[in-house]
Amino acid sequence: MSSTTTLSTPVEAVRLADPYPFYARLVAERPFAFDEALGAWVAADAAAVRAVLGSGALRVRPVAEPVPAGIAGTAAGEVFGELVRMTDGAAAARLKGVVAEALARADLGHAGALAARFTREALAEGGEVPYEELMFGVPARVVAALGGLADGADREAARAIGDFVRCIPASATEDDHRAAAAAATRLRELLGPPLASASTAPLTAPEAAPASGTAYPAGPANGLLRELFTAAERAGWEHPGPLLSNAIGFLSQTYDATAGLIGNTLVALARGAGAADTGALVREVVRYDAPVQNTRRFAADTFTHAGSAVEPGQQVLVLLAAANRDPAVNPDPHTLSPGRVNPAVFTFGAGAHRCPGGELATALATAVVTELRTAGWSATATPAYRPLANARIPLL
Ligand code: HEM
Repeated sequence: MSSTTTLSTPVEAVRLADPYPFYARLVAERPFAFDEALGAWVAADAAAVRAVLGSGALRVRPVAEPVPAGIAGTAAGEVFGELVRMTDGAAAARLKGVVAEALARADLGHAGALAARFTREALAEGGEVPYEELMFGVPARVVAALGGLADGADREAARAIGDFVRCIPASATEDDHRAAAAAATRLRELLGPPLASASTAPLTAPEAAPASGTAYPAGPANGLLRELFTAAERAGWEHPGPLLSNAIGFLSQTYDATAGLIGNTLVALARGAGAADTGALVREVVRYDAPVQNTRRFAADTFTHAGSAVEPGQQVLVLLAAANRDPAVNPDPHTLSPGRVNPAVFTFGAGAHRCPGGELATALATAVVTELRTAGWSATATPAYRPLANARIPLL
């Protein structure tokens, strides 16, 4: 698909070269409306997106199918069913507090240093720019390393999470489900021991990543899993299973979204964004060309907004990327302005399920893109996009 004229649903917009005129029309003309082709409500403007994400009547999963049928009863289903991202209710809210506290304590300087180092290593291999490794592999490896995995286990976890996330789209096949189940089993084996030993290891300050060599500081003593364990203890959370699932969740939440942020920043540079400050550019790309364009909600109770009622059982597609460009909340919304003051940004969600990993993702993307620019990277091609329903990831 190459133009908005043939567009039939806002889901297909995710992979257009320029979905933003289409979103702008929705914001102006149909800010909250039922889309017959999609069979769902679509929230497009900032007011509707805020209202939907703030409502307790709307849940992250259909009430009748908390876990996708294809993975129910498998290791992937067990992990999926314990993710804070995929659950609502009082226990999920408590666990979300634990997860958010652990991520808030993540050492972003250390994460950025590891991302820079893995990027330099990948580029040093020579040949074509290894975009796949830089966009997906490096961020996932860093998060695995923050969790204490090293000596190849970080690479293995990064590969396995690529298989795990295959079970998430509604379009997943039986093969995807099988691969995800095997990956979930392996990820538990990889992350279980460092999480268990996090309970006994002393908490120490992370060291700087060494400039060369293959060793880098890792292990529970400076790990994200130690922070997860400590936050759980502080909250009186006593169930290790969901902690392990959400440690796997750190990897799955990182994977596509951070790849999209790196890719979309490279596209902005290729289209002429001349920002000297890569960090400011990445933060504005978060708003301007959101790597996660939409999310969904499912009505458990009636939800009303702007005179419309969403009935129990109905779905809402929440267009985060459209709301980011609503002129009611961001002046001159279609201009890429690195350093924009106080932007309203919906890319990381809002309300109870707001993303707790935004700072980490931004640090990782900034480090990868900075290293590429330092290495003299340049590109001119207008990319196609992966055929995904919510992540906007260019094929570079
Ligand atoms: C550019 C990168 C990222 C983007 C655009 C992004 C976006 C989002 C969005 C939109 C949500 C909320 C979904 C919803 O309400 O339906 C979310 C949830 C979440 N994200 Fe991120 N994310 C990114 C990176 C990360 C990273 C690096 C981590 C952690 C390592 C992370 C951890 C989480 C978690 C744990 C949740 C679930 C929160 C909850 O449901 O309460 N994210 N993310």
